[in-house]
Amino acid sequence: MSAPNKSFDPVEVAVLKEEAVNEARDGALAAIEQAANLAELKEVRNAHAGDRSPLSLANREIGALPPAAKAEAGKRVGQARGQIRAALEAKETELQIAEQEAKLAAERVDVTVPVDRKRLGARHPLSVIAEQLADVFVAMGFEVAEGPEVEAEWFNFDALNLGPDHPARTMQDTFFVDSPDSGVVLRTHTSPVQIRALLNRELPVYVVCPGRVFRTDELDATHTPVFHQIEGLAVDKGITMADLKGTLDHFAAAIFGEGLVTRLRPSYFPFTEPSAEVDLQCFACRGESVDSPDNPCRTCSSEGWIEWGGCGMVNPRVLEACGVDSSEYSGFAFGMGLERTLMFRYGITDMRDMVEGDMRFATHYGMEL
Ligand code: DAH
Repeated sequence: MSAPNKSFDPVEVAVLKEEAVNEARDGALAAIEQAANLAELKEVRNAHAGDRSPLSLANREIGALPPAAKAEAGKRVGQARGQIRAALEAKETELQIAEQEAKLAAERVDVTVPVDRKRLGARHPLSVIAEQLADVFVAMGFEVAEGPEVEAEWFNFDALNLGPDHPARTMQDTFFVDSPDSGVVLRTHTSPVQIRALLNRELPVYVVCPGRVFRTDELDATHTPVFHQIEGLAVDKGITMADLKGTLDHFAAAIFGEGLVTRLRPSYFPFTEPSAEVDLQCFACRGESVDSPDNPCRTCSSEGWIEWGGCGMVNPRVLEACGVDSSEYSGFAFGMGLERTLMFRYGITDMRDMVEGDMRFATHYGMEL
């Protein structure tokens, strides 16, 4: 600071002159205007409003002026500094808003961008239909029974009245585990679970047994060496074929639609007597295509019926093999293929679609979880 000017001499303090103050102010205002961001504005603030800025330094010189000149110089410098402060504040607010907006724009989430969602798996339609079929029987008071897929020949054949010379026992149908004399096979049907249920459970017995079965078939549109069946067995006092028919009709209606019925056609199975094939009334034409050449049905070839499975009254020899007194108890049994049931239900024409494990097959039938 310069020494006090006691001698009333008009002292010229260059930095306090109007032009100098205006120049410092204009320089500051221009620099403020040009600051592009808050960091730059901070530098401008230091340079033009800080302790070492031209106007702060000029301010200190006021004391060196003669008293008469002090007021005017003080006012000039004060106003200039006030303008700079106001400009700094306005610019700071403007830059803060701009930076905030830029940040929000950068962080904006585009909710319309497709999401890279991991697809959930789907249960196989065969597993789902197995449960749905079993549920129909559980609702009627049946229990679900299971048995091993690697089965003793005695359960798979002998106890079911399939003697050693029965054609189904030849190598052509059956997968033998180890050698044909091992006595162990991959079960060729779910009927051995009937035997296990009768041996292990208290009478009366009402069971359904969905499960995987094996036969030495080549894979083609209508065959697969690994497939599924559902077996039903009811053994009680006074069971008749009317119970069998009523149960099958209820089953058909529950799966294929109200009012759909079954038909029994005489047939032969060693484990039932009498035996029948179960036909399902055609769910597509409900029999209307029969004798109606203008209205053919592809589902049943205009027969009105489609083959669904086998059934019958449990052969007394099977009951006796399981220690059940056949003079007191009688029973019915039935068995159908799950693949066939699924094919009917969804109009699937190629069995291979069911075994290839393509997720699109599973999701197509609405089974996605
Ligand atoms: N086990 C037979 C098969 O695989 C199907 C069958 C027919 C099961 C008649 C039964 C029945 O319970 O009574 O071809």
